[in-house]
Formats: sequence, structure tokens, C-alpha cells
Amino acid sequence: MKTISVAVAGMGNVGRETVRLLRERRAELRERLGAHLVLTAVADRDALREARALGLPASVARFTDPAAMARKSGADLFVEVLGGYDAPRRFAGEVLGRGGALVTANKRLLAYAWPELTSAAAKSGARLAFEGAVAGGVPVLRALELSFSGDRVLGVDGILNGTTNYILTRCEEGLSAEAALKEAQELGFAEKDPTLDVSGGDAAQKLCVLAGLVTGGWLKPGSFPVAGIESVSSRDVAYARERLGAAVRLVASLRFSGTAAAPRVEAGVSPTLVPLSHPLATVRREYNALLVSTASAGDLMFYGKGAGAGPTASAVLADVFVTARDILGGLTAPRPGPRKLSLVSPDDTESGFYLRLLVKDRPGALARIAGTLGRESVSIAAIHQDRAAGTTSAQVLITTHPATRGRFERARRRILSLGDASPRHCAMRILA
Ligand code: HSE
Repeated sequence: MKTISVAVAGMGNVGRETVRLLRERRAELRERLGAHLVLTAVADRDALREARALGLPASVARFTDPAAMARKSGADLFVEVLGGYDAPRRFAGEVLGRGGALVTANKRLLAYAWPELTSAAAKSGARLAFEGAVAGGVPVLRALELSFSGDRVLGVDGILNGTTNYILTRCEEGLSAEAALKEAQELGFAEKDPTLDVSGGDAAQKLCVLAGLVTGGWLKPGSFPVAGIESVSSRDVAYARERLGAAVRLVASLRFSGTAAAPRVEAGVSPTLVPLSHPLATVRREYNALLVSTASAGDLMFYGKGAGAGPTASAVLADVFVTARDILGGLTAPRPGPRKLSLVSPDDTESGFYLRLLVKDRPGALARIAGTLGRESVSIAAIHQDRAAGTTSAQVLITTHPATRGRFERARRRILSLGDASPRHCAMRILA
């Protein structure tokens, strides 16, 4: 029976769980693979201590430098779960440059170094797998890569960040956004510094990985609109639910067009009003979901835990298994590209919008706001004004009929420059 040797870089929570599962499930993996999957090396700053804590036999080589492990261990397959960016990038470069197979769960590495990684893999014939980088244990990447091979993926809408989904759904239950974040941190769902999550940056990196997987091209971080949930308040969440029959979710979306050889994509991350009848509205707390629209199979939704050592290690191990199977079968990676990916201008994308403004309650204020929207051909669908007793300002909540983002954004900026409304406002798109 053949043996595939595995080396794991990074002994954090995910690395430890990956090693534990790899060893615990050894017999089942051997039976299903028809080969031995053997851990032969680990790398970590504290490799000796980690190896001891995991009870690894002396036959497993210990490295403190992951790049040295890539050069010297001679493993067939390398797992990168180091965390961070620079060290994973050096490690990935070493592995792929030598034609080694790489499994990584590092969305930031994939999002920012996509051209470098995919070119290196294409040049050396290396296999690169990254199921754990998006939606944790939910097998969305394998589905996007293989299950629609005879179909065409038209677009995806995803809830790809557990922290923000936890906050938004706890707001539905009456908590303030601040209290919900604190609770998520106490429960271990949210980072101590949640900036990347709350700003939409984490979901955006995952969107880059999804776009790359489907098209083979690089959706460059920073090249498409990303808005987080900082401006969303429990008032917005309650109003959406009670008056508009919608839930607020941070939705990351891609729409594909063009051809396989010259793909085009429309991309964006934004707080979004999702009708309560829409499947994404049912996704609560720290869960992730991806709704995939295809030409033949129609719409499909993938749902599950998007983070944590168990879900991520499950995805990493699935990558290890499938990659090992491909190595044994002499199969090449089925990935398209690398190729150029063109972006559809975000200004041309169309949807309804929600706008909450704090407006000085004085004659003509509402008319000026409505007029500004009208001049940009943005048609108001509904308007609601709410003024608390003893205050001089009113909350004005507006929803619009579908309009291009460009026109809505121009109107929003002009409204804020009129001096009637406070700069602290909330704008969201409405999912049809
Ligand atoms: N911090 C992420 C989340 C998980 O809240 O979903 C890691 O990508």
C-alpha cells in the first residue's frame, strides 16, 4: 500500500485539531484512500512543546521554521495553518515553487497573493486546495469547483462572517449592537479586535477567494465596494423586520458574466435588507451560508459553521484527503486560469436601497431630501418619519425602488452635504 506523507505548518487551534483528526481517523482514511496518510513533520515556533503535548511519535520531524520544513521534510503534501500573512506567503512560495501540494485555510493569503500562488502552482504543476478558507466546515468550494462542472455558476450571495451575523441576529432579539458584540466576544465567536469582521473586510477576502475559484482570475481586495455593519443600529434591524418584512444581513455577492476565457464579475459586500421569505434571512447567530445561483440546477444553499477549530480542521482534512487521492491517481488540479478578470463597474449595479437619516425637523428638509433623490432618478418606495418627544431632529427612514448604485450614492452624498441631516446615517441595499 502506498504512503502519502503530510507535513503541517502551524500548531494553533486549527493545526492541533487537524493533527489530532489525521491521527484519530487514520484507519478510516486509509480504507477510503487505499493508501496510508502519515504525518511526517510539523512546524511551529514551539514545535517541540506542541509535539509533546499532542503525543507525536519521534518519527514526526519537528521544525521551528516552516520554510525549512518545506525544503527539507520531503513530504508529499503540506498543510498551512500558520495564521498571519508573511510567514504563510514564504511557506506557500517554497512549497508551490517546488511543485509540492499545498492545503491552506488562509483567506488573507489567497485574497492578496492569488496571482502569485496560482501562477506558481500552474508553473510547477502543484496542487493547491483551500476549502477551509471560506465558510469553515461548509464544503462550498468543492461544490463550486466540481459539483457544477456541467453547469454554469451565475452568482453567489453569502453570509460569510459569523461575527457580524451574530451581532445582527442578536439585535433582532432586542440587544444593542455593542452588547451583541460583547456577548459574541465572551462566547468566543468574535475576535478581541473585531475591526476586520465588522468592517466587512473578512467577508471581502472570502469573496476574493470565491471569485478566484470560479473564474481563475484575481478579484483584487480593495477593487470593489465593501461596507460593514458599523452604521447599522438595532433601530434599523427592528424597522426592517416590523415595517419592511426584512432581516438585516451582511451579504457578500458576486455576479458572473463574460466568457470562461474572459470572465467578468460584479462584486460587493454590504449590509443588506433580505426579505424574510429569502433563505439567507433564516441564517442566524454565528452561522454562515452561501446561496449559489446556477443556470441549470437553479438556486442551492449551503449552510453551517463558518469558523472554529473543528469546522476548519474538517475542511482542511477533506482537502488533504482529496489532494492525496489526486496525487495517487495522477490527476492534475481542475482549476481554471490564472487569467484576467474584469470588474463590472459597481456604479452600474442595480437594487433598491434603504436610507436612515437623522434630520433637523425644519420646513422643507424632507422636500430637499426627496428632491435630491428625484433629481438622480431614484424613486422613493416608502418614507417614514419618527420624532421622539422633546427632540428637534427626526429619524427619517426611506426605501427606494431599484436604482443604480451610482445614482443612489450620488444622491446620498448630496443629501449629506445639504446640512439637513447628520453625517451619522445608515445606507443598505435591498435584496430582491
Ligand atoms: N472572524 C470570522 C467570522 C471567522 O467571524 O466569521 C474567520 O474567518
